[in-house]
This record gives sequence, structure tokens and C-alpha cells, in this order.
Amino acid sequence: MDLVAPQLDEYLLDLARTQHPDAVLDDMEQRAREQGFPIVGRAVGRLLETQARGIGARRVMELGSGYGYSAYWFSRAVGDGGSVVCTDMDPGNARDAEGYLQRAGLWDRVRYRVGDALSGFAAESGEFDIVYCDVDKTGYPDCWRAACERIRVGGLYLCDNVLWSGRVAEPGGDANTEAIREHNRLVATDDRFVSSIVPLRDGVMIALRVG
Ligand SMILES: C[S@@+](CC[C@H](N)C(=O)[O-])C[C@H]1O[C@@H](n2cnc3c(N)ncnc32)[C@H](O)[C@@H]1O
Repeated sequence: MDLVAPQLDEYLLDLARTQHPDAVLDDMEQRAREQGFPIVGRAVGRLLETQARGIGARRVMELGSGYGYSAYWFSRAVGDGGSVVCTDMDPGNARDAEGYLQRAGLWDRVRYRVGDALSGFAAESGEFDIVYCDVDKTGYPDCWRAACERIRVGGLYLCDNVLWSGRVAEPGGDANTEAIREHNRLVATDDRFVSSIVPLRDGVMIALRVG
């Protein structure tokens, strides 16, 4: 199921391209198309950046970074001296991210941890302004359980694919669908957070820590 009508989705992407032309982004997006790699895309990328800038984020933790497309948007937002810690189990993704983000002039604020995202997260100390989740979907509930304890009050938990092409609203479903449903229920029922799902692309969870 398309959550956003295809022509409207294309309109949003075109508009985001107009706002922010960049040959590095074009290259990352072309690669995603050629390899069928699931990046968030430009409209969601812009949403991540606006959310991060909106709370003055300086320290971001990414769980599932691929070759750095979502990190591109967070690293713009955190600015000079900010930090974006990326995690990915594939060392090739980390190497490629360095190439793209060097070209974009953003690598100075990015650090990659190759390996399991939650292990990399556990090895970092302190609280974060934002934890962003985009790992394999069965990992979503545990990512939330780890993230909700490590986000400062006033900080954000952001998570991609939470509507899973509409499958979360259909009966039954596979392990991925079940895990996303459980994740969404856990976020929605945590009194420390005020949350909302934006039905952009595949659904983006935005949860603000208030207590
Ligand atoms: C959907 S892609 C991430 C896309 C990225 N956030 C973006 O928009 O550019 C998911 C990535 O997470 C990695 N991944 C999935 N599960 C993981 C885990 N448990 N630990 C570390 N990396 C994981 C995969 O290798 C893949 O590159």
C-alpha cells in the first residue's frame, strides 16, 4: 500500500530537491535506486534535519546507518563541533559513508561503529539529544527499550518505517510487522514521551521526551 499517493510523493521529493541541490545526495540516491538500498529519501531526510535543528541537537545516535544517507541530514543539523555516531554491521557501508560525507564536508562530525547497533550504542556513554532507529525491523522493540533510557528530557526518538507500507494496520503479518506493531505500542504507551507518527513515505515515529 502506498501511504502517500505516488504523484504526491514525487511532488514532495521534487520540492525537497529544489530546496537543497547537492551532487553528493544525487549520487547517494542514484546508488539506492540502482541497488535497491532502503535510504530514507529526501523528504524524510529533510524532516530528520528539521526535527534535529528544532531541538538544537548536538549529539545524535543512529542505529542502522547504511552508507550515511540519513547521517548526512543529521550531521548538517548538529553543526560544527556536533557529533553523529553511526552504526552498521557492514564495514563496506562505513567506508562508503566516509567517501560521501567527506565530499559533502560533513565527515568531521561523524563516527562509525561497525557491528551490531545495540552493542555500539551500549559502548557509548551518556545521554543523546536524538536516537534514530532504522535497523532490521525485528530489532525495533529492543532499540526502543535501549533508546528511551538514553534520550535527554527535551530530546527525540525518531524511527523510520513504522507504518510498514500499511501492514501494521492489517490483521496478522510476519515477524517484521509484529515487531513494528509492538514497537509502536511501546512508544505510544510510555508516559515519559509524547509521540506522533508522520505518514510520510513509510511512516516516521517522532517521540519527544517530556519526563
Ligand atoms: C534501512 S538501512 C539504513 C538506511 C539509513 N538509515 C539511511 O536512510 O540512509 C538499514 C541498515 O542497517 C544495517 N543494520 C540492520 N540491522 C542492524 C543491526 N542490528 N546492527 C547494525 N546494523 C544493522 C543494515 O546493514 C543496513 O545498512
